[in-house]
Amino acid sequence: MTENRTRPLDAPAPWWSTAVIYEVYPRSFADSDGDGVGDLAGIRQRLPYLESLGVHGIWLTPFQRSPQVDQGYDISDYCAVDPLFGTLAEFDALLADAHARGIHVLVDIVPNHTSTENELFQKALAAQPGSPERAMFHFVDSMDAAGLVPPNNWISVFGGSAWHRAHPASTTDLQWYLHLFSSAQPDWNWNNPAVVDYFDRVLRFWFDRGVDGIRIDVAHGLFKAPGLPDADSVPVVIDGLRSNPLAMDQEPVHAIYRRWRRLAQSYDRERLLVGEVNLEPQRAGRYTRPDELHQTFAFAFARLGWDQEAWVSVGSELERVRVETGADPSWALENHDLVRTVTRFGGGELGAARARAAIVALLGLPGSAYVFQGQELGLPEIDVPLADRADPMWTRGGVSRDGARVPLPWDPDPAGAFGFSPVGPTVGSGVGYEVGSGVGPARPWLPQPEGWGDWAVSKQLGDAASTLSVFTGAMRSRAELVASGVFRAGAAARWSGTPDGRVMCERQGGVTVVVAMGDAAVPLPPGRPLLTSAPLVAGLLPPNAAAWVQRS
Ligand code: GLC
Repeated sequence: MTENRTRPLDAPAPWWSTAVIYEVYPRSFADSDGDGVGDLAGIRQRLPYLESLGVHGIWLTPFQRSPQVDQGYDISDYCAVDPLFGTLAEFDALLADAHARGIHVLVDIVPNHTSTENELFQKALAAQPGSPERAMFHFVDSMDAAGLVPPNNWISVFGGSAWHRAHPASTTDLQWYLHLFSSAQPDWNWNNPAVVDYFDRVLRFWFDRGVDGIRIDVAHGLFKAPGLPDADSVPVVIDGLRSNPLAMDQEPVHAIYRRWRRLAQSYDRERLLVGEVNLEPQRAGRYTRPDELHQTFAFAFARLGWDQEAWVSVGSELERVRVETGADPSWALENHDLVRTVTRFGGGELGAARARAAIVALLGLPGSAYVFQGQELGLPEIDVPLADRADPMWTRGGVSRDGARVPLPWDPDPAGAFGFSPVGPTVGSGVGYEVGSGVGPARPWLPQPEGWGDWAVSKQLGDAASTLSVFTGAMRSRAELVASGVFRAGAAARWSGTPDGRVMCERQGGVTVVVAMGDAAVPLPPGRPLLTSAPLVAGLLPPNAAAWVQRS
């Protein structure tokens, strides 16, 4: 097996190299003021829970000022907190308390696009074609004299044209602006040095406040092919930026990440840069070269179904990329954009057993791991009623990501939205539903289904077989193995499959992760079982379960 050689052998590994980072989707985590939307104070109140999970960090999806068209991924002021979520003082208090509990905090930065409500975009709209204000974005003339034909044939990731007329009624201003996502999310023009400077300031703002790192949204975006040429074919399937190579993975983006790495390194505690690079492993690997980002999510893995061959081939490919780049994979199976694993792996009890196995496997793989809130509870994807769907991807493109974003159940009792909101008169800021009625908390921003309390945190805590108990058990074992040096950064992995349906990942250091994907119970490799996602049956691993084995 080949060892990672980019770090001198005696240098201490940075905190994130073996970390488990928990994605908090603030809207749906915990609502402190009863307006039906989660907030920063709610996260702060629940820090003891996050500490009890044993996570090393949290990544907060956007809570910055935003009109919330794309649930916060349309940021209008990168250096302010949206009143829906609280205040900057509340953020500082959350950060301080998290640090006191040994939890690092990552904030989400969205550099590909902003919100139409950003004051710089408003100034650009008011300015003339050709002005420096417009040069901050991609404003381009119509293809025709009447202003009816957009500058090229690109479609938006959320469906429909990627262009919107600046002033549809004007007969003199025939410009359109580019938006790879919704029309409320204009793309920045990264060829303009003023945009580069603007984001330097944004990064410094959060780093100076003490945040430990950033998650970079659509990190393979930013630059577009020079001249914005037509795409050869207009993709019919909306599958993210992968569908238009002219709008992603352009070479100049790497210079930005080299610049950001230098910025991250200029702090006494180096800050973590993790990118959402939704590309095939070979291309994604170019973003974690030694002077660029520290991590990118292993998207090829995150998108997997319950498929032995695919796990082995994706695992092996990620290992090849690790050897080439020297960067350990950052494993993930869920996030706020993906269908929950319980549902993706078959639904019901079967899906739940597989999702438990998958999280045990994930925590046993060499590298860092990212888990999405509710994954530790085994939450399924919810079929949110049509009238309640809030995702702009649903309205523009017919795909809804709401089902993974339903507010968490904390208590089995439905009062206060299963403990998501406080019970009692509302004191909310007026953004949810039924606010100000004075009789109880508002309805949560996405409805929770009946029986949601079955997955509640407090219920699962008392059940040794629950997904939560299996998760915390795996977190404890992982921490012990990290402390004893068995799990360490830069470990190699050998992936293989067996005819009886096993996926095996033999990690350097003596531990093998086994996942039973076939129909029958399977033997474990020789050694000592350290952990299983379901009890062994006559010494065999049952189907749809996973184990860690210390090889003898
Ligand atoms: C990323 C986010 C997603 C958002 C999109 C546009 O993919 O994870 O939620 O809609 O970027 O910002």
